[in-house]
Amino acid sequence: MHAANILESKAGVQNPAQTFQEGGPMPVIVIANPKGGVGKSTLATNVAGYFATQGHSVMLGDIDKQQSSRLWLGLRPPAAVPIAAWDVARDDVVRPPKGTTHVVLDTPAGLHGKRLKDVLRIADRVLVPLQASIFDIYATRAFLDQVMDQGKDGKPALGIVGMRVDERTIASEQLQQFVAGLGLPVVGMLRPTQNYVHLAARGLTLFDVAPGRVARDLEQWRDICKWLG
Ligand SMILES: Nc1ncnc2c1ncn2[C@@H]1O[C@H](COP(=O)(O)OP(=O)(O)O)[C@@H](O)[C@H]1O
Ligand SMILES: [Mg+2]
Repeated sequence: MHAANILESKAGVQNPAQTFQEGGPMPVIVIANPKGGVGKSTLATNVAGYFATQGHSVMLGDIDKQQSSRLWLGLRPPAAVPIAAWDVARDDVVRPPKGTTHVVLDTPAGLHGKRLKDVLRIADRVLVPLQASIFDIYATRAFLDQVMDQGKDGKPALGIVGMRVDERTIASEQLQQFVAGLGLPVVGMLRPTQNYVHLAARGLTLFDVAPGRVARDLEQWRDICKWLG
């Protein structure tokens, strides 16, 4: 069984949260947006890279048939700080490997309904990448409503990351206003840069390379890292 099926697995259907409680408290960060190509996998890999370089035992998993995280992990050089994938046990239930302290979950485009609900139930934090276009904002609206509806008791905590945003533009202001109007935090704004493309192609994150090479981007991640705790 693939990690993509975790929520359909036996343990998953009965109580998806159970899978994540074995080793005590373990923050689960979910990256989600129903639109494709907005930067979910880019955020997920970099969040995993951040935790890993902080010395945590990180698992990066896909709730995604596309399995982009697994592909990316396959590109990761052996010398880089390790990031684990799902363990698929003999009973076909997927679990974070033993010793995992932080779980980062990448999700597919179109995630909605019960499947989204199941993922939200195990999430401590949900990070939503959002591009500064009116079309992306409208496409994301219903999704955010559902997440907020579920998170009335404050869990999962929801944060927006402006993706490929030039902070000097009107589009960036519109994104800020839209998100503020929902009462949600914009925890960061990431500029468009090929750094993300080039690093991903080598299985790396901003946090794996000499800081001087990606100083502007690390600066933009400061508040996101703070929000992640
Ligand atoms: N800030 C950015 N600047 C430039 N390219 C980006 C940025 N964020 C993501 N990308 C690129 O955009 C494409 C789609 O991003 P991806 O993370 O795969 O989106 P998703 O997982 O939501 O489909 C990828 O090629 C990725 O490298
Ligand atoms: Mg993806």
